Amino acid sequence: EKGGYEHFMLKEIFEQPKALRDTLAGRLNHDHVVLQEVDLTPKEVALFNKVAIVACGTAYHAGLIGKGLIEHWAKIPVEVDIASEFRYRAPLIDDKTLVVVISQSGETADTLAALRESKKKGARVIAITNVVGSSVAREAHDVIHTWAGPEIAVASTKAYTTQIEGMILLALYLTQAKGTMPKEWITEIISELGKIPDKAEIILKEGAERIKTLARYFEEVGSAFFIGRGLDWAVAQEGSLKLKEISYIHAEAYASGELKHGTLALITEDTPIIALATQRDLYEKTVSNVIEVKARDAKVIGFTFEGNTDFHKSVNEIFYIPETVNELAPLLTVIPLQLLSYYVSVARGNDVDKPRNLAKSVTVE
Ligand code: F6R
Repeated sequence: EKGGYEHFMLKEIFEQPKALRDTLAGRLNHDHVVLQEVDLTPKEVALFNKVAIVACGTAYHAGLIGKGLIEHWAKIPVEVDIASEFRYRAPLIDDKTLVVVISQSGETADTLAALRESKKKGARVIAITNVVGSSVAREAHDVIHTWAGPEIAVASTKAYTTQIEGMILLALYLTQAKGTMPKEWITEIISELGKIPDKAEIILKEGAERIKTLARYFEEVGSAFFIGRGLDWAVAQEGSLKLKEISYIHAEAYASGELKHGTLALITEDTPIIALATQRDLYEKTVSNVIEVKARDAKVIGFTFEGNTDFHKSVNEIFYIPETVNELAPLLTVIPLQLLSYYVSVARGNDVDKPRNLAKSVTVE
């Protein structure tokens, strides 16, 4: 049932091109997206004064990307909350709020409670979920299904990338309704989005061996940092969680610009740094942060686009990602980070698919 792979996690990482393709199927038109399951008129969209995204763990990290995209494209303010925080902080939501809950299983207790609380307060609730007929799918007003197929490994991989697609589709849907971006621009994003599954395939085919060799940087260490700015920071948070949950190495994700506000004290030659530099408008700033950590003798593994002929000079190792527009980069950047956690976990002899103390679906508080 593992289809020739040693672990479910590896199988699911390699299933991403298909999962990404299936989740886009029927939803992309030349110059607009179609979300048959979401039933909002442009008038209703215009009345939302806020979007509140609520989820746990990896799904929360997909929400962070959603915030970046919805604010940037649809110009609606967005809050992102961890569900266990949201439900107890008396969030300010009402009938002018669009609440988006994200859950692979659709059964996470805190996320479900947040959904119910939001409905009670009169909010419109859209769910992004991978399980048809799950509690979250049944109770939300509208559902955007991700078509990742069953995810068995505890560490979420293909669910995350398809959740990001769900967020991209929703962000485009809201943008269309609000008319905040020119049609030609939407056409370009849609065309780039359609190419993502093939690019994911290229990373897996051509990059897995290289990532395996980079795993050696983590065999002995006690701590690692993931740094980036903007959407790269959101991906850094997911990369860091992946490493922690299956390799048991302490890892932290830091917004690159925040390092000098305390964290640099923790960085030494024994703290490998994963530096993400895919956001072109933030590139120079990211490089200056990499130079800061290199000055502490840290080993830096850089991730950037193929066309970048400069970044390799600032890092110890480099991994290239096929080019795409800034906004879609997270869909690709996370794949080598998933592979990295996988290979580190295997090298350390851990139970990759069933990490200690974790359950696949958390149906208790
Ligand atoms: C991490 C992971 C968890 C889940 C979280 C939410 O790899 O799998 O962080 O993302 O427990 O689960 P769902 O999406 O089912 O609500």
